[in-house]
Amino acid sequence: MHTHILSGNKEDIKKAAIALRNGKLVAFPTETVYGLGANALDQKAVAKIFKAKGRPQDNPLIAHIGAKEDLDALVLKVPKKAKILIDAFWPGPLTIVLQKSGIVPEIITAGLPSVAVRMPSLDIALDLIKKAGVPIAAPSANTSGRPSPTSAKHVIEDLRGRIDYIIDGGRTRIGVESTVIDLTVDPPVLLRPGGITKEEIEKKIGQVRISRHGSVAKSPGMKYRHYSPRAEVILTKDIQKSADNYMNKGYKVGIMATDKTPYSADRIRYIGKSNEQIAKNLFEAFRDLDKYKVDIILIKGVNDNGLGLAIMNRLKKASTIDKE
Ligand code: TXA
Ligand code: MG
Repeated sequence: MHTHILSGNKEDIKKAAIALRNGKLVAFPTETVYGLGANALDQKAVAKIFKAKGRPQDNPLIAHIGAKEDLDALVLKVPKKAKILIDAFWPGPLTIVLQKSGIVPEIITAGLPSVAVRMPSLDIALDLIKKAGVPIAAPSANTSGRPSPTSAKHVIEDLRGRIDYIIDGGRTRIGVESTVIDLTVDPPVLLRPGGITKEEIEKKIGQVRISRHGSVAKSPGMKYRHYSPRAEVILTKDIQKSADNYMNKGYKVGIMATDKTPYSADRIRYIGKSNEQIAKNLFEAFRDLDKYKVDIILIKGVNDNGLGLAIMNRLKKASTIDKE
């Protein structure tokens, strides 16, 4: 299959929207990461997503909508707390899980009675979904198990020849995926920390519970190894000491630096100091260090405040301790 690369201009978005309506796969940028889209109401089209990514069938997808009103057709009811969160954070990096309606195909929800829905904020994504005129099922546009793509180049690396179109919208602004919150229960459960912080959410609806990575039944995706570079990711306080230690043992060592210390190792990527910068650069740095074929990636942990919770979640999922 030939993969066409499109720009974010009006004509190209129209072309991509028509392709989506015709059951084709289109990768597109959002404010978080690139998504791999298909018509959510077309089972056959959605099945192609799983195939292209090599994604396990029991990991459900997010349905993306272009307007808040489009939620109603996909769910049975919208509880008060969901309404509050939608008013506060849509369009934006928040995915809400609600009880699904009859029109949502089982293949999207992996047989669960609930569906995850999000309205992204990036104009290209909104235009595309609106023009397609249907909800768009879209997981991150990476091969299953690889870090999510934050530029079109990453999508090309993983999926060229396996999908119909890629819309190149440059680098994504946030760099980690949306926050996923389950509102079928009260208090709501944070299934995946992401672009909207726990603090922001709790300011609006009060306390939420955090799922310890495995409310497996509730968020089947959480049991799979995610966000993983091929190298071992190791969280350490003393970066240089760990680097020397591993290099002495003959390992090729990469460092993801969050300060300007002049470290010495086989490859060093400065990924920024603030949580915003770290989130934005994280997945790209994983991919870069993989290209250099390092055996070990060293990084200092950040604290759990704000976006730090999402960053630590991705690091832990990619780290030795969590690898299954
Ligand atoms: O930022 C994002 O959310 C990106 C962009 C493209 O929108 N999408 C994304 O999709 O990260 P994906 O498929 O890589 O992650 C979706 C997560 C998975 O952990 C999945 O298990 C969970 O959402 N999920 C989907 N439907 C669910 C449901 N009904 N109940 C619980 N968890 C669900
Ligand atoms: Mg993903």
